[in-house]
Amino acid sequence: MPPLTRPLIAPSLLAADFARLKDEVIAVERAGADWLHLDVMDGHFVPNITFGPLLVKALRPHTKMPLDVHLMIAPADPYITAFAEAGADHISVHPEAGPHLHRTLQHIRALGKKSGVVLNPATPIESLVNVLDLTDLIMVMTVNPGFGGQAFLTSQIPKIAALRRLIDESGRNIVLQVDGGITAQTAPSVLQAGATCLIAGTAVFGAADYEAAITSIRAAVPAGLPELNTSTGG
Ligand code: DX5
Ligand code: ZN
Repeated sequence: MPPLTRPLIAPSLLAADFARLKDEVIAVERAGADWLHLDVMDGHFVPNITFGPLLVKALRPHTKMPLDVHLMIAPADPYITAFAEAGADHISVHPEAGPHLHRTLQHIRALGKKSGVVLNPATPIESLVNVLDLTDLIMVMTVNPGFGGQAFLTSQIPKIAALRRLIDESGRNIVLQVDGGITAQTAPSVLQAGATCLIAGTAVFGAADYEAAITSIRAAVPAGLPELNTSTGG
């Protein structure tokens, strides 16, 4: 993928109308979304339950958008093959979800999928520095995982900036995602810190006009942001 000059926007299906999921996916793709973010929760790793690979498989034929699957389940390892076979393009895991993050990332890559590591607000950067060579995406949680519609945690902005430096110093093509509380108001601070992919649930699916919502988040790029802060994976 060539470098982008605009952030990737990944609407989170968690905030969609669950009685009309296919239509919601089609609507956000038409509205200009880049990726579809799918939050998988098990009621154990996080205090909420959503859906599994069957839903990923059911939606796969209805969109060309890459499916960005965020696993909030523990253990994650026994289910990774099922999500890959269901049509996930990216599979991201929390380091706390299993004892062998390195092996988990190897497994995701071996299935031909992009591998991601997700950092909870209290999880330090050190938990992924030794597996950067196996990481295609890094996701910084700016809320505690489990629910949409929570308030953005500004305390995570220095972590995003530190990860930006780490990625740039590594020379690797790693996407830096931010998940939780993203709106047109909070987006500038995370883009300034170096994020390249913004995940937004409520701010997109809670809006009357999805296209206007996506456009306003994407347009929240602070003036003077250097274009080199836009690695895209690939
Ligand atoms: C939270 C999920 C997020 C959530 C974001 O556990 O990982 O993807 O859907 O929702 P908003 O954008 O409403 O904070
Ligand atoms: Zn998520």
